[in-house]
Amino acid sequence: MEADRLGDHSTRRRMSSTRLLPGGPVAESVLNDVAARAAVLTEKSVTPSLATILVGDDDASAGYIRIKQRQAAELGFDSPHTHLPADATQADLHAAIAAYNDDPAVHGLLVQYPVPGHLDYDAALQAMDPDKDVDGMHPLNMGRLALGMPGPLPCTPAGIEALLAYYDIPVSGREVVILGRGATLGRPLAVLLSQKRPTANAAVTVVHTGVPDWARYTQRADILIAAAGVPGIIQPEHVKPGAVVVGGGVRYEGRRLLPDVDESVESVAGAITPRVGGVGPTTVAMLFRNAITAAERAVAAA
Ligand SMILES: NC(=O)c1ccc[n+]([C@@H]2O[C@H](COP(=O)([O-])OP(=O)(O)OC[C@H]3O[C@@H](n4cnc5c(N)ncnc54)[C@H](OP(=O)(O)O)[C@@H]3O)[C@@H](O)[C@H]2O)c1
Repeated sequence: MEADRLGDHSTRRRMSSTRLLPGGPVAESVLNDVAARAAVLTEKSVTPSLATILVGDDDASAGYIRIKQRQAAELGFDSPHTHLPADATQADLHAAIAAYNDDPAVHGLLVQYPVPGHLDYDAALQAMDPDKDVDGMHPLNMGRLALGMPGPLPCTPAGIEALLAYYDIPVSGREVVILGRGATLGRPLAVLLSQKRPTANAAVTVVHTGVPDWARYTQRADILIAAAGVPGIIQPEHVKPGAVVVGGGVRYEGRRLLPDVDESVESVAGAITPRVGGVGPTTVAMLFRNAITAAERAVAAA
């Protein structure tokens, strides 16, 4: 029975010449560069520093903070941390942010999302020094992105551009279709991939619930990027045979990760991110790339 099941699976894999695009090697290459840049700063007696703030006792959020702290230590970063109680007020949160904003030894800062329901995450984001915003989500940084000015880039979109570049997937002049116009992923990614740069420069279309026949667009995409957060929304019939498919959208049910891209899509795609270990690792790497860039900028300005 088990052998049958495995047999089915491997047959499907064998029939498919689909290239897998894992995020791990992309992240490793970005993080190697970050570590080298961190070493240059350390030689100048500056330790790059990425501070984190966690409100409440959500296990998953605490886990994400631990992953970032472990990564920070491996890269030679300091990682000061503030843990506020679940009943912290907005003023408490802003005071913690202000303390890191004002600390010249801290170069990057993130408030772990989500915060408890009584707190306003957007207000906290806006209280942050935009130059320390390693998530690249501060409105000023979104404005910089739209204007093509330097600044921290939103991590998941930047990670997707890096992933396509790492695997030498041509983007310039190609038709990219993004399903989803959310502020975290679809919208900033559309701006990023339409910019005039060899690793971008694409013809980008964004579809969403306002485009009920969105499949008409995804079916012609050279590169299809799922950014909806609707498990299994992308099925084989939505994909042009041979297209590159990037799964950015996911939903968590407890600890279970449910991707937007159904596993059957592997049979039509020319290349595809794996369901686990695809875009995720590149997001964390981009966080540290933003942090090291912020540290270098602070040192240059000092
Ligand atoms: N892998 C990672 O590291 C990572 C990091 C960040 C985010 N994400 C994931 O990326 C996804 C997007 O995040 P976000 O914050 O940018 O998005 P969001 O604000 O949740 O927006 C989702 C988008 O998908 C569209 N959509 C939802 N259902 C649809 C449907 N049935 N048909 C067509 N369009 C539909 C929505 O359309 P409307 O605008 O019309 O409502 C909206 O534009 C989420 O799943 C999130 O978990 C992953």
